[in-house]
Amino acid sequence: MCGIVGYTGTKDAFPILIKGLQRLEYRGYDSAGVALANDGLQLYKCKGKVVDLQNHIGNGTTHGNSGIGHTRWATHGEPNDVNAHPHFSMGGNIILIHNGIIENYDSVKKELVARGYIFKSDTDTEVLVNLIEEIQKSENCKLSEAVRKALNEVHGAYAIVVMSEDEPGVIVAARKSSPLVIGIGEDGDFFLASDATPIVEYTKNVVYLEDGEIAEIVPGQELKLFTEKKQKVTPYIQELELHLEELEKGGYDHFMLKEIYEQPRSVHDSMRGRLSVKRGLVHLGGMGDYEKKMLAADRIIFIACGTSWHAGLVGEYLIEDLARIPVEVEYASEFRYRNPIITERDVVIAISQSGETADTLAALELATRKGATILGICNVVGSSIARITDGGSYTHAGPEIGVASTKAFTSQVTVLSLLALMLGQAKGTIERSRFHRTLVDLSVIPEKIEAALQTDAIVKKIAAEFKDARNFLYLGRGYCFPLALEGALKLKEISYIHAEGYPAAEMKHGPIALIDEEMPVVVIATKGPSYEKVVSNIQEVKARKGVVIAVVSEGDEQVKEIADYTIEIPETEEMFAPLVASVPLQLLSYHIAVMRECNVDQPRNLAKSVTVE
Ligand code: M6R
Repeated sequence: MCGIVGYTGTKDAFPILIKGLQRLEYRGYDSAGVALANDGLQLYKCKGKVVDLQNHIGNGTTHGNSGIGHTRWATHGEPNDVNAHPHFSMGGNIILIHNGIIENYDSVKKELVARGYIFKSDTDTEVLVNLIEEIQKSENCKLSEAVRKALNEVHGAYAIVVMSEDEPGVIVAARKSSPLVIGIGEDGDFFLASDATPIVEYTKNVVYLEDGEIAEIVPGQELKLFTEKKQKVTPYIQELELHLEELEKGGYDHFMLKEIYEQPRSVHDSMRGRLSVKRGLVHLGGMGDYEKKMLAADRIIFIACGTSWHAGLVGEYLIEDLARIPVEVEYASEFRYRNPIITERDVVIAISQSGETADTLAALELATRKGATILGICNVVGSSIARITDGGSYTHAGPEIGVASTKAFTSQVTVLSLLALMLGQAKGTIERSRFHRTLVDLSVIPEKIEAALQTDAIVKKIAAEFKDARNFLYLGRGYCFPLALEGALKLKEISYIHAEGYPAAEMKHGPIALIDEEMPVVVIATKGPSYEKVVSNIQEVKARKGVVIAVVSEGDEQVKEIADYTIEIPETEEMFAPLVASVPLQLLSYHIAVMRECNVDQPRNLAKSVTVE
């Protein structure tokens, strides 16, 4: 989704803005722009990538100690040069960048048109900047006051950053439902961004703007915060836990590949300090405080989108199996619009890598209004979901830059495994010997993931065979059914090959009609209670001339005889199979996408964090 950067201070703003925009590229976008304050406001913007913007600027003037930059993911108006941000007000003295949607833009626009305003773009953003100009003109007030008053007249979601020619060096920023971080530099300079990635190389001291807050930023002065109702707010300065090297590719061709290879460590980090085999203990700090609530709950409801929803499905199987608490898994975008039955006896847990997904946030707000306890499992520290929930646990996977979620998924499943074990132990639904065995099995998963990474070469060969396929089916049963969905999503999103995930046994109820010699079928056939049934499903595919690529447990002979290709991974307890078997599926989609020359880290039309509903 849209990315915002800003800088004001004593340094040259342009390189900071360009580097910031590059750091935000992973969020997904279709146009880019910068505005620099230097004896007036200088604007450059165009459709395309940051590199296109640099070419467009060429030898143009880029001086100035303050400026703003934007990557736009189109919502209102097609991606083109005119709709790209920043947007000038009609009078040309105010300039603004925006992430989000102004819902009542149409009525505001009509009023402004009636007052003589002419619009160049199709965006809701241009409406807002003109509204600010109109208020400033009629009330003769400071920029920050005009912004405050304008925000009282609009509804929707936004993070905005505004500059005015009349107040050189001053930046005004505000947020509602879209994230915005302000970095406080050592030399009295300030950095702004949609997330901390563009800021971390300059400062570790940051303030996360809260919903409804407005910041007036003047270099060399203290950061001033106030609410839309004009109440002063004391900035809460936090120290970033992010490290610069985590944002680099570190020798890998793509972030996605780096993140796949990071999984032994990221899964280990998700468990660190939370599991002790020696002491027979599992403890999830921020969740532990709500243990009693969860044990007494009528239901635990996971809300999430995309890959996080798949992790939620694994979580459902885990918690119902180990802790015998009823669990439901909901698509956040459906949940909030279907008048769900929620009571104060429900515990609603949002699962989100970014912690900023708009539908998930809105679903949490609904659950809060209905009186449920709300918890979060997020990766990004300080994200909106992490801040609005009553409690929760971070996944500690480290920054995930590739749009396709890989390590975030395995870390989410790891935290959900710990949660299920913690609840099962507290409730007494797992007998001691099983609890201990399961703990040991979970603790060695990082080594098994490491071994699963050794499948890379064979997976690459298989990818070469199937890179031109038009469709794929993914099948799995039990704990591996959510993984079939996840494998199919990975392939779709980065290689643009149509793929479907199904519970293996459901195939007979429809999808089997699709099977012929042109249809590769990826089957997760690892050892476990439903192994024999999956073998039968493979036979059914083979009987119809389907091509089977099977992910099997090491040493499996039975499937090897019938499948066309097998990928062996270490055997593990069935409930942890998704953690290990996800590795070859991620690698398969990665290699196919590379061979098809797709943009692996920034697939078309996609955004890393979806901050619009
Ligand atoms: O940040 P979140 O986990 O809330 O994001 C949810 C989905 O947008 C995300 O998982 C998406 O499906 C990924 N591109 C999948 O790889």
